[in-house]
Amino acid sequence: MRHLLDTRTLTRDDAIRILDVAEDMADTQEREVKKLPTLRGRTVVNLFFEDSTRTRISFEAAAKRLSADLINFSAKGSSVSKGESLQDTAQTLEAMGADAVVVRHGASGAPRTLASSGWIDAGVVNAGDGTHEHPTQALLDAFTMRRRRYGASSRGRDLAGYRVTIVGDVLHSRVARSNVWLLDALGAEVTLVAPPTLVPQDVTRWPATILFDLDEAIAAAPDALMMLRIQTERMTGSFFPNEREYARLWGLDPVRFRALPSDTIVMHPGPMNRGLEICAEAADSARATVLEQVANGVSVRMAVLYLLLAGEQAGTDSKENR
Ligand code: NCD
Repeated sequence: MRHLLDTRTLTRDDAIRILDVAEDMADTQEREVKKLPTLRGRTVVNLFFEDSTRTRISFEAAAKRLSADLINFSAKGSSVSKGESLQDTAQTLEAMGADAVVVRHGASGAPRTLASSGWIDAGVVNAGDGTHEHPTQALLDAFTMRRRRYGASSRGRDLAGYRVTIVGDVLHSRVARSNVWLLDALGAEVTLVAPPTLVPQDVTRWPATILFDLDEAIAAAPDALMMLRIQTERMTGSFFPNEREYARLWGLDPVRFRALPSDTIVMHPGPMNRGLEICAEAADSARATVLEQVANGVSVRMAVLYLLLAGEQAGTDSKENR
């Protein structure tokens, strides 16, 4: 694997390979000493043009657990225009000897520009670009679903027949897009629930069913219910009357939460707006996987960095090269 830019171009086998390596990484994280020597002497740069807490520190933990050197580069607030600043920054990183660049950018397509620009040789990992994709988030979500469903016998499996309902601000959500493509590749059935104003125009071409009624979606008893954050920072107009109205129609409130089957898992990528898209009772319940998703994120990002930076050898005899 040279770069990880999206999930749309991942095949079922690509996805299972990443998830299986993530299982191996998760096993090492049960040990008392969590650090592996695998990426000693390699340099990973976190290049974040947008705010982030969990994704940035998750990549940081992943790189450090693999013994890579990690440079945190927070490019937010740069006054240079986007194309220029990306080129200048990329060339600076290249000069510093970066082997992998983990990039988050407000512009959809920025990681692909970086990967195909010729500015750098480093592998590029998309850590969220605009409203386009967030592939490691979808991979950690799929990892979490697979583990909840198959436990210790997860390796090698896809999510055929698994029913996932994704609720909320689909229009602005790169998490929703990456999940739709990845879950489709893994054979899961995806339903999207959103206010009509927050549904993307091209959604009819997505491999998903669209519903406008959350109660109907809950009555259909999904295996996983994923609540999305309202992305107010990406909203230019008024997409719903007010927060109370949004919570009433589209929020996972206590009544809806109690109507879910007892084995439905409740997911959220974080950061959560408690009381808006998700109530505290749901967020803090044993069926919520929010913190599990965070923990699994480190294993998944370890797997991605490993496949990117030690990948060639890893293709044939992964165990020896770990
Ligand atoms: C997501 C993101 O940044 O796209 N968060 C994350 O990576 N943990 C989702 C969000 O911000 O709502």
